Formats: sequence, C-alpha cells, structure tokens
Amino acid sequence: MLKIGVLVSGGGTNLQAIIDAIDAGKINGEIVAVVSNRKDAYALERAKKHNIETAWISKKQFVSFDEYEDALIDYFKAKNVGLVIFAGFMVILTSKFADAFKNKIINIHPSLIPSFCGKGFYGLKVHEAALAKGVKVTGATVHFVDSEADTGPIILQKAVEVKEGDTPEILQKRVMEQAEWVIFPEAVRLFAEEKLVVENNIVRRVD
Ligand code: GRF
Repeated sequence: MLKIGVLVSGGGTNLQAIIDAIDAGKINGEIVAVVSNRKDAYALERAKKHNIETAWISKKQFVSFDEYEDALIDYFKAKNVGLVIFAGFMVILTSKFADAFKNKIINIHPSLIPSFCGKGFYGLKVHEAALAKGVKVTGATVHFVDSEADTGPIILQKAVEVKEGDTPEILQKRVMEQAEWVIFPEAVRLFAEEKLVVENNIVRRVD
C-alpha cells in the first residue's frame, strides 16, 4: 500500500478531504505522517484525531535552509514514503527536495495554472488577483512539484464559475468546495493506482 507523507501549514481542509477519501476506501494508501512548518496549524489536530503521526519541522530549528530540507527528506525517507503531498504548504522548497522525490510530490493550487500562480500567489491573494482581472472562470489545479513554484506537470484541473459580487473569501470557499476537495483526492487515487505517467512534462493517464 502506498505510504503518503503530507506537508501542511494551515487549516488542513485539503488534508481532511484526503483522509476522508482514504477512510471511505477510495484511495489505496495510508498517511504515515503529517508535517507542519507551523506549530499551531489546525491541520495537525485533524491528523491527531485520526491517529496519524505528526511532526513540527520548521526552518527556524536549523541554521540553514539546506539543513531544513535535509531534515524533511530524511524524515520522509525514513518512513518509506512513496508520495509527498503539499496540502496548503506555504514554504517553497528547492530542487533538492523535488529531486529527492522526483514525480512523487503533488501540490494543490487554487487557480487554473498557468493563471494566478507562482511566487506571491498564495491564499487569498490568488482569488484577489482573479477578481481584479475580472476572469469569469477560475478553479484549481493539482500538479507534480518540480524545482519552481507551480510549474510542474499538471495532473487534474477543475473550473469554477466566478459570480457577480464575489469577494476573495466567497470565491476561495467555492473553489475549495467545488474543485480542490474533489480533484485532490482524485489525483491521489490515480497516483496510488499507478495511473499517472509523466512524459516530457506532460501527465498522461494510463488505464
Ligand atoms: C488551499 O486553498 C490550497 O489550494 C492552497 O492553500 C490552501 C490550503 O487550505 N495551496 P487548507 O489548509 O487545505 O484548508
């Protein structure tokens, strides 16, 4: 069974969607650890409620970013993790981490990449930018993680309508409910069933 490690920074609703999908028997895998860079992330409480091991590993605990990344790599390698999930993880790691788990890291981003993504586009800022541009459709993207922010091969995307009078908060909620919590567990399911192949930066589904 696929061993999954999760990195989080915040509330953990995407982590919850994956826990629920595993509990419902939809994903052939188990979460072996949830690691947060923030001690107070509510995502850690969600993991504890499901008896999942948690850890706080922060760059503050190390003299260099390099050592911080080594610690994360060592932690997940020791647990024989075959998939690392960034579930609202707000730290941008380098190619060192990406290479250690090549094509084995997936991230969820709350827009239709390549719109509103990359450095500086996180949290509500993504939805503020979408509203400022006046797009009529936005959505979410699940992608493999490479050495840059939000540039890796796209696994799944789902569009969500932008409505008259939306605030960033309202739009964020709709994108989470209609897209993120749907496509994230689905991408993990496909990965666990070895149905995703990456060729020339493009993800192909094999059945
Ligand atoms: C989500 O919008 C996700 O797309 C983004 O960060 C947010 C995390 O929310 N990467 P949560 O912690 O999963 O509730």
